[in-house]
Amino acid sequence: MDTMALVSVAAAVSRSRSQLFPRLLLFRKRIVSGVQPTGAIHLGNYLGAIKTWIELQNSYDTLFFIVDLHAITLPYDTQQLSKATRNTAAIYLACGVDTSKASVFVQSHVRADVELMWLLSSATPIGWLNRMIQFKEKSRKAGDENVGVALLTYPVLMASDILLYQSDLVPVGEDQKQHLELTRELAERVNYLYGGRKWKKLGGRGGAIFKVPEPLIPPAGARVMSLTDGLSKMSKSAPSDQSRINLLDPKDVIANKIKRCKTDSFSGMEFDSPERPECNNLLSIYQLISGKTKEEVAQECQDMNWGTFKTLLTDALVDHLHPIQVRHEEIISDPAYLDGVLGEGATKAAAIADATLSNVYQAMGFLYR
Ligand code: TYM
Repeated sequence: MDTMALVSVAAAVSRSRSQLFPRLLLFRKRIVSGVQPTGAIHLGNYLGAIKTWIELQNSYDTLFFIVDLHAITLPYDTQQLSKATRNTAAIYLACGVDTSKASVFVQSHVRADVELMWLLSSATPIGWLNRMIQFKEKSRKAGDENVGVALLTYPVLMASDILLYQSDLVPVGEDQKQHLELTRELAERVNYLYGGRKWKKLGGRGGAIFKVPEPLIPPAGARVMSLTDGLSKMSKSAPSDQSRINLLDPKDVIANKIKRCKTDSFSGMEFDSPERPECNNLLSIYQLISGKTKEEVAQECQDMNWGTFKTLLTDALVDHLHPIQVRHEEIISDPAYLDGVLGEGATKAAAIADATLSNVYQAMGFLYR
């Protein structure tokens, strides 16, 4: 059984149990995830991460943050950061994150995160960071003078985001897999270096300091590709806006991007052909947006030409994104509501974070304050 199938079974069991035994809600597994408030949030972020969050929030204890501290690891515009942070929060809510089930907050509002990051840095071998693919790619593009130390230590902050909340599962797209592996290795290393009997001798409870989290990478949508090159990932930082569909793109912009996206000269539409990456990508997007199965989409589209398929895909995207855009507009125009949500989310998150941080200080032998 694949991970998502396991999660569905776990979700069903957890749902039926919590209906019978509401107190078991207290023991629900925890999920954390976040998106950087840089550039426009696109279909890759939505299909690879946010859409999965919405499905999981009914069965898990969920914390979703806007990772503003990660957004400063490359040169950025100070005039835009807080606006982009609010906008990202509004997108989470517009997409269906339900604040009666999930805590939504801004990463920098929980101070314990940066503190834990420092403690974790001392246990992170630099070789682990040097081999991160995203660091290599981003630093090559940015050039030496623009690469701050934070770009190298970014995965330690991400580990801190996750370990601070004792997360069980982390739903992310494929590109974050290596960061999740580092998080797991770091949790095990800290547990080994400072946990167990050594911690008990210092007056702690002993045992593991951190839960070792599992990545949750959706079977479809984990790697949405660019509209202009089916072999490259859809990305916020790609220079051409034509390469991505942003969640807030108006109808005519979506239609234009799909009209001009890269195609091929084969007839009919098919999944999984190595010679047709663009075709596979667009069919997968259509499948996820329409909620149909792969088989249904394969059958529906097999005899279509590109023109007919593009009209179908455009209509499906517009239908799916329009209600999100309407809700986003309502939420962003009510700053008091948004501030309330973020304030409440940060308070709940800080309570969990402070407990973990105290344990780490104690286990690492610091003088108790
Ligand atoms: P970020 O902001 O680059 O992306 C947010 C989420 O979107 C996913 N994603 C994609 N999924 C499918 N296809 C794509 N083309 C695509 N592009 C992006 C990413 O995998 C991610 O899940 N470091 C993270 C943010 C982060 C985080 C965390 C996530 C910081 N701390 C703790 C989880 C838990 C990042 O930069 O994501």
